[in-house]
Amino acid sequence: MRAVIQKAFGGPEVLEVVELDKPELRSGEVLVRVRASGVNPVDVAVRSGAFPLLGEPPYGVGWDISGVVEEAGPGARYEIGEEVFGMPFFPRAATGYAEYVATPSRQVARKPASLTHVEAAALPLAALTAWQGLVDRAGVREGDRVLIHRAAGGVGHLAVQIAKARGAYVIALASAAKHDFVRGLGADEVIDYRTTDFTEAVRDIDVVFDSVADGERSLSVLKPGGVLVSILEHPNQELAATVKAAGRRFAGVSVEPDYAALEAIAELVEAGKLRPTVAETLPLAEVSKAHEVVASGQTVGKVVLTVDPAR
Ligand SMILES: NC(=O)c1ccc[n+]([C@@H]2O[C@H](COP(=O)([O-])OP(=O)(O)OC[C@H]3O[C@@H](n4cnc5c(N)ncnc54)[C@H](OP(=O)(O)O)[C@@H]3O)[C@@H](O)[C@H]2O)c1
Repeated sequence: MRAVIQKAFGGPEVLEVVELDKPELRSGEVLVRVRASGVNPVDVAVRSGAFPLLGEPPYGVGWDISGVVEEAGPGARYEIGEEVFGMPFFPRAATGYAEYVATPSRQVARKPASLTHVEAAALPLAALTAWQGLVDRAGVREGDRVLIHRAAGGVGHLAVQIAKARGAYVIALASAAKHDFVRGLGADEVIDYRTTDFTEAVRDIDVVFDSVADGERSLSVLKPGGVLVSILEHPNQELAATVKAAGRRFAGVSVEPDYAALEAIAELVEAGKLRPTVAETLPLAEVSKAHEVVASGQTVGKVVLTVDPAR
């Protein structure tokens, strides 16, 4: 099968499309014929060495997949022919940019029927991060005031929709050119963080969803008892202590595979409350270009690789 690996840290040029053996199936696993693979900033940070989550290369790249079950091991949750999506093995290597991935069946869920594989591959890592932060950890409820940083990004654009689906009042931070997009996601207020100091514009916030390392300033707008959700790769222990001392809660999130959350996410999709935006779709052979796009930090929504069965 074709798969993307890296043998060294470096720029997009270290990504290589190579031929590997198809993974072997174990009990409880399904072999997924991948149709599309999502690209995330963490893939870029692992590739470059900025965030050496997997240690020293070589290893396979990528986590987000959507595809069709081609083989099912004993005891697996899905049957041959079912369409599934997920983020298997994170934070261990999954080699998700590949024609086949063997995954524990509990690390994927049935793909929402209303989404294409490209759209479904845009969801797992980003939507699970938003869900695990906003729902699992912060328990966002009807009427909560939720502030979302980086609201037009891969995680942020899903976080806005998930918070709205929970009945929250959502205040979104984004640059001016992206305000129409973010309002279209359902945000109640949109603030241009480049020209307006949000700490002067908002107060009495129940939950801040922080993906920009703005912890101290985010803390200043939280109500007593409010929650600072941080999805940064290196949650700051000092900040956590400061938040606690101020009578607020700190929730550092490191996303995990989670079929139950994926099912809840799929339900929101089917209910018309959640839809990923795919900014750009590229074939597997153009994986280096896909990384350049994501590394720009300016993506609106997600970048997805297609894995063409006909090559
Ligand atoms: N803890 C975890 O498990 C976990 C999981 C997923 C992601 N993450 C991390 O969360 C971060 C966001 O991920 P993502 O996929 O949403 O990223 P992304 O899609 O690359 O975010 C792109 C958006 O970020 C905004 N942006 C760029 N520079 C900014 C800045 N200096 N301040 C505020 N906004 C800025 C841009 O919008 P504007 O034009 O509005 O600036 C752009 O639309 C990454 O660092 C990622 O590694 C962590």
